Amino acid sequence: MTQDKHISTQAPIGVFDSGFGGLSILREIRKVLPDYDYIFLGDNARAPYGSRSFHLVYEYTLQAVKHLFDQGCSLVILACNTASAKALRTIQQKDLPGIDPSKRVLGVIRPTVEKVGEISQNGHVGIFGTPATIQSESYNIEIGKMHPTFKVFGHACPMWVPLVENKESEGEGADYFVKKDIDALIGLCPDIDAVILGCTHYPLLVNKIKQYMPEGVHIIEQGGIVADSLKDYLARHPEIDARCSKGGTCQYFTTEDAEKFSEMGSIFVNEQIEAKHITL
Ligand code: DGL
Repeated sequence: MTQDKHISTQAPIGVFDSGFGGLSILREIRKVLPDYDYIFLGDNARAPYGSRSFHLVYEYTLQAVKHLFDQGCSLVILACNTASAKALRTIQQKDLPGIDPSKRVLGVIRPTVEKVGEISQNGHVGIFGTPATIQSESYNIEIGKMHPTFKVFGHACPMWVPLVENKESEGEGADYFVKKDIDALIGLCPDIDAVILGCTHYPLLVNKIKQYMPEGVHIIEQGGIVADSLKDYLARHPEIDARCSKGGTCQYFTTEDAEKFSEMGSIFVNEQIEAKHITL
């Protein structure tokens, strides 16, 4: 790395996901903070992360974060629950001090957990996530710290990301798996009154989820929550805010085929996007 990469001029906010899911977060962030510049990076070539080991998720996420830092980003959002669960803490504690202690990496789990306390009335909370996120118990741990009386019930939905990635979120296969997984979660505790969609792909299945979720159960989507939390963070950290450029632009990069990403990504953000290919 050359010296000038450490010079802190203004640069876009980096937003990272294993694939397309993070676009559901970016879309909401851009609604709340439209004046900032953004670089989105999807590691589609190596997605899904949800069934990968701790070590691989950490290694891949670190490579992506370093790449975004090399583009000048001072702030990177891991718009991926799996990466937030498996890699964020190690990157913050072990890697950042050596790379550049003035840079910041934030995840999506903490802001979601902060919010759930306002939403659940009876403290019985369900979590849908990838096998990696559920197995990490990150939500149980964070909710346990913030809302110690809450009971948390996690259920992994290994088919939901492939359904979304294969444009099957409106198909009959989605009905089958969404109903099956909701039944399994509610089977763990019929009193659940709030369910966190703990994977950034899942908002694409929200119509089906609403269809099969028992009445009265709040479905918690992360996009708006993460966006509000980022706005609050930038207001509380003017030194970081000053290093984020404000031109209202957004660039998209993928480790997979750029054309494929642009086609699918446009569905997530509801506008035509043009991605570029990069190698990590
Ligand atoms: N979007 C990622 C998340 O929020 C999961 C996708 C994957 O398995 O790579 O967990």
